[in-house]
Amino acid sequence: MSGIKIKGTGRFVPAKAITNEYLSTIVDTNDEWITSRTGIKTRFHCTTETHTDMCVGAARQALENAGIKPEEIGACVVATFSADYLSPSAGCMLQRELGLPHDTVCFDLNAACSGFLFALHTMECLLAAAPRKYGLVLGAEMLSRFINWEDRGTCVLFGDGAGAVVVEWREDYPSIHALLGCHGDPNMLGVTGAEKPAPARIFMHGQPTFKFAVQAVPYCIDQVLERSGKTMDDVDFFVFHQANARIIDLAVRKYHIPPEKYYKNIQKYGNTSAASIPLVISELHDLGKVGPGSRILVVGFGGGLTWGGALIEFA
Ligand code: UT7
Repeated sequence: MSGIKIKGTGRFVPAKAITNEYLSTIVDTNDEWITSRTGIKTRFHCTTETHTDMCVGAARQALENAGIKPEEIGACVVATFSADYLSPSAGCMLQRELGLPHDTVCFDLNAACSGFLFALHTMECLLAAAPRKYGLVLGAEMLSRFINWEDRGTCVLFGDGAGAVVVEWREDYPSIHALLGCHGDPNMLGVTGAEKPAPARIFMHGQPTFKFAVQAVPYCIDQVLERSGKTMDDVDFFVFHQANARIIDLAVRKYHIPPEKYYKNIQKYGNTSAASIPLVISELHDLGKVGPGSRILVVGFGGGLTWGGALIEFA
């Protein structure tokens, strides 16, 4: 047995709120459509803040919350595809800004909206071999830089933000039993890349992505429970990637999850891709809905197409 548990959480969201009412003045849309189809009311976009600012804000809060000093961190993984530079990575920028030791392994990982789960699993593996047993795991996105304002089907969905957790690895902690997967699909959902002369822009085929998501979520729940030998009753809280309130509602109905065991903040932040799961975890922690001893089942899905699930406890 060996694994990681969460010691502390943090988050950072930029100051500028973008309301549905504002969007309806610049795009052919309206509050009724956005609310009923997605659950989103506002999202936050960076104006003066950088991606690095968001990462530093979330990471500092998580370190303070955990009572861990930067020099105790053995590895730092940032799930993102929207960092300030293609290189250096957001992880390298964090090393500098937080003053992490030079031998702390710092890097970025791209698994789109499932990225935070890929990063948690990577951290569990990394810390087993690291000299210092605390790790920083972030999900951070500045999606406002990729929004296609000509596409009302996607431009209303996405927001910016960062969430962070400090985890501790111990031999007597259980594994998070991560289930991660992908099937390469370049057309369904993503951000245009180097092959295009135009600036990088988000694209998505909404309905097939929705269908993929509503299949991926129960698959991940079932697989994680089977791998960990746990039941629904062993789970204190369910944390879902916040892509669409309707996707969460379908999962809640299918598994009869009571209201006190799941949470939505998509109405506030929109879809923040890799940041959405740690933003939920950090808010739940602050609200006292999760804390020492809590066991949470986390599910993500997104571009790639990628999916992931894990069961993680609070130390
Ligand atoms: O985070 C990664 C994973 N992401 C997801 O899982 C997202 C999955 N997909 C979705 O959440 C939904 O498909 C969307 C929210 C993106 C779209 O909702 P939908 O119910 O699937 O709408 P649709 O794309 O089928 O469009 C329905 C109608 C269309 O009009 P017509 O052709 O029926 O006349 C669209 O043109 O809604 C129209 N529409 C809009 N109307 C007002 C599309 N976007 C808008 C808009 N405002 N912003």
